[in-house]
Amino acid sequence: MKYPRIEVRELKKSFDETVILDHINFKVHLGESLVIIGASGSGKSVLTKCIVGLLKPDNGDIFLDGHRLETNSSDNTTVAANSISYVFQNSALFDSLSVIENISFGPQFLNKQNEKDANEIARESMKKLDIHPKFWFMYPKELSSSLRKIVAIARALAVKPKIIIFDEPSTGLDIRASHKLDYLIRESVKNENITAITITHDINSALHIADSIAMLHEGKLIWSGKPSDLKKSSHVEVRRFIKPFLSST
Ligand SMILES: Nc1ncnc2c1ncn2[C@@H]1O[C@H](COP(=O)(O)OP(=O)(O)OP(=O)(O)O)[C@@H](O)[C@H]1O
Ligand SMILES: [Mg+2]
Repeated sequence: MKYPRIEVRELKKSFDETVILDHINFKVHLGESLVIIGASGSGKSVLTKCIVGLLKPDNGDIFLDGHRLETNSSDNTTVAANSISYVFQNSALFDSLSVIENISFGPQFLNKQNEKDANEIARESMKKLDIHPKFWFMYPKELSSSLRKIVAIARALAVKPKIIIFDEPSTGLDIRASHKLDYLIRESVKNENITAITITHDINSALHIADSIAMLHEGKLIWSGKPSDLKKSSHVEVRRFIKPFLSST
């Protein structure tokens, strides 16, 4: 039997008395690109942090390839870390490491490659993402914000993950840089057969990147479907969320 790559069942998470995620259910299949949309504070980052084990859900189950992750156990982080790369909302590169060192870190220290092979993997990864060699030995603070995001993606791909999670990859970028990033995400996921979850506020990006879209609203998954069906939704919150996009196109 073929299991979904990721399955989330009845996930619930609160901080103190405040319910942040409530009865969340969804599946993502091998090679599928799921985009999660929703307003600021709707719980998108908390959801993905639960999936990778950075936060412990209060209830519910998460399965990777049919294996249930032990919630409330530190093993969760270990299991997830072996198959999932997470690109944080703020890129989160190591400031004191050069671009190539940032990218070779995963292959060397997570995948236990020797230094020479790890560097070779980093070089391949940088070439795939069109990072010009003049940047390879620079430090994150010397790069533009869009290049930092591309380096963060190269770093995430270099460990050859089964699953990659991008938290707001294009926020703060101009339209050209954001389109380039969407294209790189789409191509990388397709070429490497990676399963991807991308969080975004940007409906244009969502429509480019997604095979399927899920919308969170106040901690609930209120809509999911194909990108082509999003504009047809009659759900009041979905319509409210996509209205600014519809009026700009
Ligand atoms: N560690 C935490 N402790 C307490 N509350 C938290 C914590 N992390 C997130 N929250 C709260 O959970 C809610 C959802 O946060 P989350 O970061 O998931 O939103 P988001 O949908 O990713 O928003 P944005 O689009 O602004 O990134 C917010 O109200 C936030 O303040
Ligand atoms: Mg967030």
